[in-house]
Amino acid sequence: ATDFPIITLDGGAATGKSSTARGVSQQLRFLHADTGSHYRALTFLLLRKGISPEESDELTEALEEMKLSAEVDGTLASLIADGKKLSPEDLRSLEVNRNVSSFAALPPVRNRLLRYQRWHRELALEKGFLGLVIEGRDIGSVVFPEAPFRFFLEADESTRIQRRSEEGQEDSVAARDKADSGRKTAPLHCPEGAIRINTGNYTLEEVISQICQKVQNDSDALQ
Ligand code: CDP
Ligand code: CDP
Repeated sequence: ATDFPIITLDGGAATGKSSTARGVSQQLRFLHADTGSHYRALTFLLLRKGISPEESDELTEALEEMKLSAEVDGTLASLIADGKKLSPEDLRSLEVNRNVSSFAALPPVRNRLLRYQRWHRELALEKGFLGLVIEGRDIGSVVFPEAPFRFFLEADESTRIQRRSEEGQEDSVAARDKADSGRKTAPLHCPEGAIRINTGNYTLEEVISQICQKVQNDSDALQ
């Protein structure tokens, strides 16, 4: 199945990646992988082991010891680490918000997750989904640079801060974006050839249908 369709969504914090990917996955019957939640889960577990966000032998060992698998619920794949799934409260805690970009900048952390993230293509095939929609910061540039459908979501900073505060989350969107864009390994940027969508100009439903239409028009696999 060389033509198994993959959609990549990249963008800064609160640009709408997760809500868009969820809608697209349900409309197209694709598996949905949220790679931000992978970085959040590792951050939570590493912090709990008392490991700080810098390269060290303890970090390498902890990463090697971790067993990563996935659980699929509806169209969403969630990371299972050492047999456990983390709660949304754990994943989006203030502690994780503050540290995730620092862990995500470390090459050993990114390398550990790269293999795991690419494996979602096989998982989607095995579970009978018609494709994979996967979102994050480096998906169209590093994880699946050959994907036929690559999108880059954007929105004004004020729109994004507003969205997060409506969700009741304390999160410094701008600081994370700055760290994510400025790091050496797999920085956040619009991959060459990706389609840019400013999600502040459309409703969520409009963004979802723009993406679904593009995929349905271009993809033989879905006809
Ligand atoms: O939901 P939100 O956009 O605020 O963040 P997220 O997608 O949950 O990602 C959390 C953090 O993980 C980001 O700020 C990045 O530091 C990191 N991340 C990454 O480095 N690469 C990815 N492919 C996805 C997330
Ligand atoms: O995954 P990411 O952090 O990029 O964003 P999200 O969690 O999907 O969306 C952040 C918030 O923006 C959610 O409350 C969405 O309902 C809202 N949103 C929106 O108002 N308009 C869009 N086109 C997309 C998302």
